Amino acid sequence: MSLSRGDGFVHLADYRAPAWRVLHAGLVFELDPAATTVESVLSLEPDPARPGQPVTLDGEGLELLAIELDGRALGGDGYAYDGHQLTILDPGRACELRTRVRIHPDANTRLEGLYQSGRLLLTQCEAQGFRRITFMADRPDVMPRWRITLRAARDAFPVLLANGNPVSSRGLGDGRHEAVWENPHPTPAYLFAIAAGELGRVTKTLRTAEGREVELNVWAEPGDVERCRYALGAVERSLRWDERRFGRGYDLDVFNVVAAQDFTMGAMENKGLNIFNARYILADEATATDADFLAIESVVAHEYLHNWSGNRVTLRDWFQLSLKEGLTVFRDTEFSSDLHSRALKRIEVVRLLRGRQFAEDAGALAHPVRPDRYKEISNFYTLTIYEKGAEIIRVLHTLVGEDTFRAGMDRYFADNDGKAATLEDFLAAHAAASGRDLAQFARWYAQAGTPELAIRADFDAASGDYTLTIDQHTPATPGQPEKQPLLIPLRFALYDADGGEITTPPEADAVVREGMAELTAARHVLRWRGLRGRPLPAFNHGFAAPVKLQVDYSVDELARLARLERDAFNRWDLLQRLATDALLGAAHAEAATQTLSDVLADLLEDTSADPAFVAECLALPDFDTLAEQVDEVDVEALVGRREELLDRLAEDQVERLQSRYEALADVAAGGLDGPEMSARALRNACLSWLTRLDPQAALAEAQFAAANTMTARLAALRCLLHFQAPGAEAALAAFQQQFRHDPLVTDKWIALVATRPHPEALADVEALMASNWWKATNPNRVRALLGSFARSNPLGFHRRDGAGYRLVATQVASLDAINPQVAARLLGAFESWRRWTAPHRGPAREALAALEGKLGSPDGRDLLERLLG
Ligand code: BES
Ligand code: ZN
Repeated sequence: MSLSRGDGFVHLADYRAPAWRVLHAGLVFELDPAATTVESVLSLEPDPARPGQPVTLDGEGLELLAIELDGRALGGDGYAYDGHQLTILDPGRACELRTRVRIHPDANTRLEGLYQSGRLLLTQCEAQGFRRITFMADRPDVMPRWRITLRAARDAFPVLLANGNPVSSRGLGDGRHEAVWENPHPTPAYLFAIAAGELGRVTKTLRTAEGREVELNVWAEPGDVERCRYALGAVERSLRWDERRFGRGYDLDVFNVVAAQDFTMGAMENKGLNIFNARYILADEATATDADFLAIESVVAHEYLHNWSGNRVTLRDWFQLSLKEGLTVFRDTEFSSDLHSRALKRIEVVRLLRGRQFAEDAGALAHPVRPDRYKEISNFYTLTIYEKGAEIIRVLHTLVGEDTFRAGMDRYFADNDGKAATLEDFLAAHAAASGRDLAQFARWYAQAGTPELAIRADFDAASGDYTLTIDQHTPATPGQPEKQPLLIPLRFALYDADGGEITTPPEADAVVREGMAELTAARHVLRWRGLRGRPLPAFNHGFAAPVKLQVDYSVDELARLARLERDAFNRWDLLQRLATDALLGAAHAEAATQTLSDVLADLLEDTSADPAFVAECLALPDFDTLAEQVDEVDVEALVGRREELLDRLAEDQVERLQSRYEALADVAAGGLDGPEMSARALRNACLSWLTRLDPQAALAEAQFAAANTMTARLAALRCLLHFQAPGAEAALAAFQQQFRHDPLVTDKWIALVATRPHPEALADVEALMASNWWKATNPNRVRALLGSFARSNPLGFHRRDGAGYRLVATQVASLDAINPQVAARLLGAFESWRRWTAPHRGPAREALAALEGKLGSPDGRDLLERLLG
């Protein structure tokens, strides 16, 4: 990494096109876990516009064995390598650089570059891991074509996979064999991948809409192959969907997916060879929950869909990260919405936004969707880049409509295919297709913080004039004290006294069409004249804009709206609002509670509503979502009030809960069809409410004993553990025993133990860390235990004595030396610490301060600096 300003940051404004291009990369791997050698031949070409520049290649901690330029060995005066960068004096012409290096996969605990997982050898290169394998201009705007040769012992590594299409394979005589792969598409190094070892597969061959025959394979360790079938189906559905909805075909002869037990992230979209965290591949009804199945399908889709949004059109530089991630989240969300319930998907996304992304955007780590500087790019794979990035694209979609959006996407893909693009390229394609000036829209990418819309309604009974005054404001964020108004599409509806919709357009100082105002200024006024009575307004249907709304409703108005709104998402949103008022809105809290209870009663009796939707309505706003809406977070008070409300509501609804629970038993018994999953969702929601009222937790115990799906079994176990039922220990022991050989299921009970809502959960977490279940090198295990504790156990993490903070901070320090990305993510649990009440703030600051000087990685240091800064 070249730092031009010496301030420790990489700046967007300093971007320069590469002085040297790499046209072709030919790599030969002699694979061995202890010592792998990599021979590389790079065809280099200078940019004629920038003559006289040295060749600089990235290479992190490589043992250089040999180096030749155009067939001549380079002596010590011909090159320099400082452990990070290889520099060769300007050769003055196109040339071929040959190097040989040695690396050590079995010692690689960072899981970046080439590493060992079990008996497999795997790679993870995004964002800057390729430089740990061999020398390369490791930046996304350098896109060679690749030929990859893998050699290894046949018995230990019978399967040898790489990017692109298989070209040839042969035995080498000495118990070793070789496979050659060719990737004909220009591809940046971050999309490089190999996987080698004893792998089995499920496979299917299909013909694409363009007539190409493609073999789809999902690979796993031999004992896990049967659990790959669902993922294989998801690959096929993704491919077909991208053909139908975006007109995008697949472009190689094979598409390989490999499941890995040790993987830092969820999954990776390497060209033609996706590598996945096993938790997003392996599934059957006995070991995976319904939520797991849905997550698997959406992650498979996400990585598949990157083939166009990320791979065929890649990034010019890492500042453009959301160009592929936000866009691909938008695309995978549309995929899931088209295949399943759009409303339920929207609810899931909005929960994530309100609970987590809004908090990120309001905390110490807030940053724009396109940052203008960074120290460590790994720290920018955030909810803001992903989820807010996807929301911005949804805003564009809302503004221009599906057909124009599709035209803009077609144009973007056509204009940028095979290139490394920027967000400007994306916006230019959409501006051309829509005829719109997107200059103000582009501010969404530059400005951090969640916009707030304060809406005031005034009605003059004499004249019938009704005005809505809408003020837009975005709070200051680190480094951005001043904010400009954004272009926000605000959906609205007005209801008259009979519940009819008033369709007369208002007089307005904004563009208004069919129930939507395009807000562009700090204040807008919408005015209706001569209305017969005070109307009831509703806003932001479907959460079309990712904003916080401040509208003062009376409880009566909310109750009326809850009955008027037909759209499922909006109904859910109103219930969330009622629950929030019940919990945080001191003045009319009791009235809100009563109304909420009445509406829930109606919902529980409405057997025509999707049971999964009813289950979502029973799930009150979570701790994070509530914490985000108060100025100062009093953890115990917030958790306490939420529990009280749940107890009260459960008492009100007990008969209805019991009757729905029983009536859905048969449908819930098994199967992955929509109605079957829906039935389980509502049954499990009912179960958790009913368990509150029953100290023996007999129902949960019975469900645990009789369960024939992981969904039912795990939900029951959660109830037993979290309500500390008498049968909890026995159930946990049985579960541990039954699944002790399955690391993914083991992670599930560990996460339940870590999230038991009690300060004493800390002791259980410590006990697990001292047991054989603890594996600091396995990211899933670390997340299951420490990630769940820090992010999803407010009473444990925020213990008054600071022990929760100290435990997490101490572990961050030791994990930082093992896998810096995992450690840095864990540290993110402190992002809102300045808003915690004083008794928490002090210990939190101390725990963070104690980390100073203890973090060796740039990831950890960058994060700590921003948290304390
Ligand atoms: N490109 C990312 C994987 C990645 C993330 C690599 C961070 C390097 C650093 C991949 O496409 C991705 O976004 N994966 C997500 C899951 C996805 C469904 C949002 C992940 O790994 O969490
Ligand atoms: Zn992605």
